[in-house]
Amino acid sequence: MMKDDIKKVLLSEEELHARVSELGAQLSRDYAGKNLLMVSVLKGSVVFMADLMRAISEPAEIDFMVVSSYGSGVKSSGVVKIVKDLDINLQGKDILIVEDILDSGMTLDYIKGMLLDRNPSSIRICTLLDKPARRKADLQADYVGFTVPDEFVVGYGLDYDERYRNLPYIGVLKPEVYSV
Ligand code: IMP
Ligand code: MG
Repeated sequence: MMKDDIKKVLLSEEELHARVSELGAQLSRDYAGKNLLMVSVLKGSVVFMADLMRAISEPAEIDFMVVSSYGSGVKSSGVVKIVKDLDINLQGKDILIVEDILDSGMTLDYIKGMLLDRNPSSIRICTLLDKPARRKADLQADYVGFTVPDEFVVGYGLDYDERYRNLPYIGVLKPEVYSV
């Protein structure tokens, strides 16, 4: 079972739900009367996106992007490849990039710069998890769910080698799972 590979639960389903509700309430206030377009960076943010969008009471459009920066390892290569671009024109939109985790920041830094070139009205970042210890790019999220320690985490959308995304909570993987 998946849970046999988990060293400890970092964030339970209840904690995630409570924090996502708070973020949704805050975003509903901040984006009232704006043209909110939530941009989810697949695949890691899919679970967070699905919960967060339903916690927002203001109108919101959604769109998806696929980038790859990681391969199957646990360290960022710094190389970002756009696998699927957005479908919606960004002119006049208030973009909220929804991410699973801000780690080195290399991926989001690249994406933010690319989207800024398309003249949106505004652009902000909402990340479920922030791992500031590993930051390389000069980038901060505008909305952070939780600040986490420098440990490799999985679940609630986050993977190791495409596994564990469907765990309903966020856990720390046993090191032996990825060091063998
Ligand atoms: P960055 O470019 O280093 O900020 O990498 C961000 C991406 O790396 C995230 O969207 C995740 O897909 C992946 N990532 C970084 N840290 C973790 C982790 O602890 N668990 C799972 N994926 C991670
Ligand atoms: Mg990943």
